Amino acid sequence: MSIWRVQGGYPLDGSLTIQGAKNAVLPILAAAILTGCETELTNVPALRDVEASLDILRHLGCGGSRSGDVVSVDSRGLTGWCIPRELTGRMRSSIVFLGAILGRCGQVRIAMPGGCELGPRPVDLHLAAMKALGADVRVEDGQIVCTADGLTGGPVHLELPSVGATENAMIAACAAKGRTVITNAAREPEIVELQGFLRVLGADIDGAGTPMITVRGFSPNAHVGWRIMPDRIVAATMLCACACAGGDVELRGLDPAHTGSVAEELAAMGARLETGIRRLRIRCEDRLRGGRTVITEPYPGFPTDAQPLMMAASLKAEGRTVFVENIFSDRYRQAAELSRLGASIRVTGRTAVVTGVDRLHGAAVTAEDLRGGASLIIAGLGAEGETVVSDTGHVARGYEGFDRALEALGANIEIID
Ligand code: UD1
Repeated sequence: MSIWRVQGGYPLDGSLTIQGAKNAVLPILAAAILTGCETELTNVPALRDVEASLDILRHLGCGGSRSGDVVSVDSRGLTGWCIPRELTGRMRSSIVFLGAILGRCGQVRIAMPGGCELGPRPVDLHLAAMKALGADVRVEDGQIVCTADGLTGGPVHLELPSVGATENAMIAACAAKGRTVITNAAREPEIVELQGFLRVLGADIDGAGTPMITVRGFSPNAHVGWRIMPDRIVAATMLCACACAGGDVELRGLDPAHTGSVAEELAAMGARLETGIRRLRIRCEDRLRGGRTVITEPYPGFPTDAQPLMMAASLKAEGRTVFVENIFSDRYRQAAELSRLGASIRVTGRTAVVTGVDRLHGAAVTAEDLRGGASLIIAGLGAEGETVVSDTGHVARGYEGFDRALEALGANIEIID
């Protein structure tokens, strides 16, 4: 259990380089086992989910080690094709190993990842994609079992543009004979990143970033290097932290286009944003204005992961800010905790209405999930007095040195483990 002690009332000031993206590195670590090769990844954030992925790789018989921000994977000696519940239970996105293990071994057994703190997390689209590539798919005793005597390329239509199912389909299709066309694919920047990695791995693939991705074939490379893209959700977190606490912050090393929808909302609320090459500056000197409706949608729409963060940013904005959460059914768990700080939030189903208050005050609150936990911490920055956030490790799943990064910007924050 970590306790975050946040003394509010200090505006943020300074610059910050954005860490590598969690949601990009996880599918890339899985894809690294598609062929037996040595992979060197740089700019890899030190996060609990990355460590969980490395443990899965080692369990499968691969080499997996870290030195600073460099992670090396050697998948030549892969022997295993099963991931037990002890490992899938540590990381819901372990499902992204499905396509890679099936593609490499012709069989895979993964304990069902189960629901999570955001609501039920079905995997039907992942399974349908494996079936479309010719696999025999069964679910027995809480385990997903797929077998294929050689995958066959073909049409893979996703009923929803699921990020994880698109990634699994792309990775498995690389191991399939013939051409695969994935339609209604997710368009998130992490999908484009995965395509880039699969190309250096040897895949003939294009279309990522559009709803149609085509995989034509594969000629494997023995040694592969890749630099992980910056984390757009961490960037959004820092923008919302500045919006909540006030101040002047420059983010570096990011792709400003990836945080476009978040920056646009903040600009419409009165924050001043300046975009440069791989940098984004936010200045929040005056009280922000509400009056917006923030609707979460697949990329390039407003990201669901940034919804709790934007909610924190809107707590003191003048007027009402409405949120509509379209991606996950249970993603307002931060709302009740934020109310303990004096926020006014009414949640009805998929809608939440925040009425801006003049002041927030410190309180004891509990992090219920990763981004919800971050939203409590940044709300604490904008509250008067001390906020104490109890966290069972959610925040460390997605942020590397979050306390140090905020402290470097002038926040008064301390973690007690
Ligand atoms: C990824 C991100 C997560 C983000 C989410 C949506 C990673 C590691 N995680 O999660 O941070 O919040 O995208 O942007 O990249 N669905 C089904 N059946 C399926 C799969 C998904 O119904 O088989 C539904 C989900 O319940 C959800 C929606 O599709 O309602 C989107 O989920 P999806 O895009 O798959 O999210 P993840 O890939 O799990």
